[in-house]
Amino acid sequence: MRPTSFRISRRRLLAGAALLAPLAVLRHGRAQSADPFTLGVASGCPRPDRVVLWTRLAPQPLEGGGMPDQSVPVEWEVAADERFERIVRRGTFDAVPAHGHTVHAEPAGLEPGRPYWYRFRAMGTESPVGRTRTAAAAGAPLERFRFAFASCQMYEHGYFSAYRHMAADELDLVVHLGDYIYEMSWGRRHVRRHNAAIPTELWEFRDRWALYKSDPDLRAAHAAAPWVAIWDDHEVANDYTGDRSPRMADPEQFLRVRAAAYQCYWEHMPLPMAAAPSGSAMRIYDRYRFGDMLDLTLLDDRQYRSHPPCGGGRTSTTADCSERGDAARTMLGAEQERWFAERMADAQGRWTIVAQQTLMAELDRKAGEGKSFWMDGWDGHPAARERLLGAIAAGRPANPVVISGDVHAFWAADLKQDFDDPASPTLASEIVGTSISSQGPSESTIRTGLAENPHIRYARGDKRGYVRMTLEKGSARADLFAVDDPFEADSAVSPLAAFAIEDGRPGVVPI
Ligand SMILES: [Fe+2]
Repeated sequence: MRPTSFRISRRRLLAGAALLAPLAVLRHGRAQSADPFTLGVASGCPRPDRVVLWTRLAPQPLEGGGMPDQSVPVEWEVAADERFERIVRRGTFDAVPAHGHTVHAEPAGLEPGRPYWYRFRAMGTESPVGRTRTAAAAGAPLERFRFAFASCQMYEHGYFSAYRHMAADELDLVVHLGDYIYEMSWGRRHVRRHNAAIPTELWEFRDRWALYKSDPDLRAAHAAAPWVAIWDDHEVANDYTGDRSPRMADPEQFLRVRAAAYQCYWEHMPLPMAAAPSGSAMRIYDRYRFGDMLDLTLLDDRQYRSHPPCGGGRTSTTADCSERGDAARTMLGAEQERWFAERMADAQGRWTIVAQQTLMAELDRKAGEGKSFWMDGWDGHPAARERLLGAIAAGRPANPVVISGDVHAFWAADLKQDFDDPASPTLASEIVGTSISSQGPSESTIRTGLAENPHIRYARGDKRGYVRMTLEKGSARADLFAVDDPFEADSAVSPLAAFAIEDGRPGVVPI
């Protein structure tokens, strides 16, 4: 049965038609409607009584969007059933040119812990239907919570089959850990191409985001479940730290790029209006609760990070860079560190997931004597890592599990109080998802990593994919899924490995 059509006022219909006509005539020579929903629909930031609904009007997605320079009303509807027979909320959101005609509708007054369906209508066209889910009320009993996490989707390196698999999985939530877009080209083999050079202006970032969202599997994953997301570096510039980019000498010039990049991030994610950036600043760290099962903390280790020590080399040995160990070095900044310690102290879920950008376990990359570290991650900021793990130890949240991206490989690790002493207490477990498509590290990097770091239990660098976490009362399970062939648009996705984390016993155990 066809869903019931939207109820739209005559005034709005007329306004929509008037807007559409000149466009349509110009581009096609005759009056016809162009689909404004080419970038799909999404939902996110689920709370017990609300969720954010997202879309962007873009009939010409790769050419600036193709919208007139005026605001356009977008009707939205939320239904309690897939057929939209029981519509529970509806409203209108004015999509404005200053925000790239994106929609960030925030229906409130929803029921906790249940699915909803939503859709939009604008310019005489109805959007695809999305499915979302509100969070269960904090403390409400939950038997199970299932979510997937993903990162690093280099468009040129492969197709996003992992998302097609994820979309079919009926998840409660998807967590994105960054590198949703790549600003630059790199890598050994490309299956498709970026549409332009490195973006620095707002309109250039918009076209890059639109290109990534042209992937149908990515759109399907957004339409299937609510998302929460954090960025890493490539949404802005490779390896940037705070107000500095290795590519741009002038911090003022870089902060202008960062402002455009953050603006585009906010525009294209299902984030609330209140999360919009102010200039080059935007807060993305946050905490979500899902019943009595999960406290989910999202961190930002890019925006407030210290600059690289010792001249900015990418790797460093313990001997050649003492500045690396400086206690003043930070990944989160003082304010977020304080906030994090409070969140660890007042966590209430059976599981405490800390979602952040990059590998947290120490990774000595040097075979044999001595140690060598990658400086663009926690290993470049060991004092900050100690403080973070110290906050977990002091706050004593139940079952802390760190989930990470960025490094384009699967890793499973025990996060130790002292990485030099295998007998020291394990303070938390860590699971690193591989990339959706970005090319990974060499086999020798993986071999050395496993040989030199006894707290690392598993590593696999040659597979693209994602991790699905299933949280239950007695244990959590991490299922690692791998794309059979990232160069095939319709590749199958297969289970690769699985790990358990037992209630009350930090550390990953192979299943
Ligand atoms: Fe990446």
